[in-house]
Amino acid sequence: MNITKLQWWERFQKYYTEFPELGLAIDLSRMNVDDVFFSAMEPKVQKAFADMDALEKGAIANPDEKRMVGHYWLRSPELAPTPEIRKEIEDTFARIKAFAAKIHSGEIQGAGGEFKNLLVIGIGGSALGPQFVAQALGNGRKDKLKPHFFDNTDPDGMNRTLSAIGSRLDRTLCIVISKSGGTKETRNGMLVAEAAYQKAGLTFGHHAVAVTMSGSDLDKVTVANQWLERFPMWDWVGGRTSELSAVGLLPAALQGIDIDGMLAGGRLVDGVTRRYNVKQNPAALLALAWFESGNGKGTKNMVVLPYKDRLELFSKYLQQLVMESLGKAQDLDGNVVHQGICVFGNKGSTDQHSYIQQLRDGLNNFFVTFIEVQKDQLGDPIFTEPETTSGDFLHGFLLGTRSALAENGRESVTITVNEVNAQTVGLLIALFERAVGFYASFVNINAYHQPGVEAGKKAATNVLAIQIAIIKFLQANVSQPFTAQEISKSIGHEEDVETVFKILEHLASNKVRKIKKRSTKSPFENRYRLV
Ligand code: PA5
Repeated sequence: MNITKLQWWERFQKYYTEFPELGLAIDLSRMNVDDVFFSAMEPKVQKAFADMDALEKGAIANPDEKRMVGHYWLRSPELAPTPEIRKEIEDTFARIKAFAAKIHSGEIQGAGGEFKNLLVIGIGGSALGPQFVAQALGNGRKDKLKPHFFDNTDPDGMNRTLSAIGSRLDRTLCIVISKSGGTKETRNGMLVAEAAYQKAGLTFGHHAVAVTMSGSDLDKVTVANQWLERFPMWDWVGGRTSELSAVGLLPAALQGIDIDGMLAGGRLVDGVTRRYNVKQNPAALLALAWFESGNGKGTKNMVVLPYKDRLELFSKYLQQLVMESLGKAQDLDGNVVHQGICVFGNKGSTDQHSYIQQLRDGLNNFFVTFIEVQKDQLGDPIFTEPETTSGDFLHGFLLGTRSALAENGRESVTITVNEVNAQTVGLLIALFERAVGFYASFVNINAYHQPGVEAGKKAATNVLAIQIAIIKFLQANVSQPFTAQEISKSIGHEEDVETVFKILEHLASNKVRKIKKRSTKSPFENRYRLV
């Protein structure tokens, strides 16, 4: 593209918008937007504003699950559609603060004394937000409690975390987070943690709290075992939009993070993004940029590049928020649409030494979202070159990559914030939540359900049922060797022979399962027996 620097400057002046009340700016000058696009989109935009208005007033905005969608009420409880909901939110936040204060003051202690560590157990929307915030706003040794996470059912991953906690388990508070209270990964994590506490001679319940929906399986466990506390999740808050509920606020408050600041950031953005004027509404601008780039069909991937180590996990967080919300087979009228926007990214300038090469010269199937942080938060500056600090380099690399991409016709949005603090983090979360909501209206899909996640969970349950059948069969025929095909036939799963083969290979790789494999020339003739 032969655009001169002064022509870029013209575009920049036209498409760079500051929101001083938020300490935020959005620059769409490097996207292929123009006045014609904005005018053509106006009817869709007005509909999206009206949809959002209805959603905030308590409409059933998640029709498939027949649920309201209320994450915006979390930061403005006075807007909740009923006094009961408002009270629940306010009471919960007051309880979170009171509980955190008791933990910090030592009024509630672990068996070994004041709590100094947190073990947060959850997955998906019940982990990504807490992990992002812990990294973005944590302060190492100054943290009141040091956070650790189980965010998967990988035994090795959990053992690594437990060994990092080491002998300090008696001063480790465990938070189990699961909206549904029935997610297997989280339940496994809870049982592994419980076993570790027991092994250390500790009563798990005296070191544990939960965040879950009232009446869930997890909720029942907390009551039966007299856990320290339980905090509610509500069916009108989705997992991926739950960071500003007890899911995110409880671990953050315990870590010592300013949760009022996070809520204030969210509330401020909510106020500004309720404006019906596109050019004054940063979430609408973002959603429009996404629509323009991928032609409303998600044909371009979103590469999220915060130039700040503290925001590294924001890409991962947004990956779930955007892809689980927008990746849908059908639209609201039942048409097959296969919508979505693929999101990936890590941080700049690190990624410049990895995939930026392809972004500049390879497939043009993406747009970048740069996140620029004005304050370097240097401490005592070290000048690595005359008049230049490492923060200046970081900034220079952002600007350099942005123009190198633009020169080659590669689109980018730049979001600028003043600094990384509790308010900015709340602000970024709320900004993208609403942009996702607007985009979902533009393409007429339900952003608030996740049937694909459920499908994966069901398929895994089937696999584990087959595994039980295999083990029972081998137990009934101890020492006798069988091929995968023979076993699948015998257990009545002839068509699942591939799954049976994969399970046997897995079991045989783990000595503790006592299943031995005799390898043959063809892997499919391998024989397995229980010893
Ligand atoms: O966003 C979502 O709804 C999901 O990613 C959930 O957060 C995830 O499946 C975990 O669910 P739960 O909190 O019920 O354990």
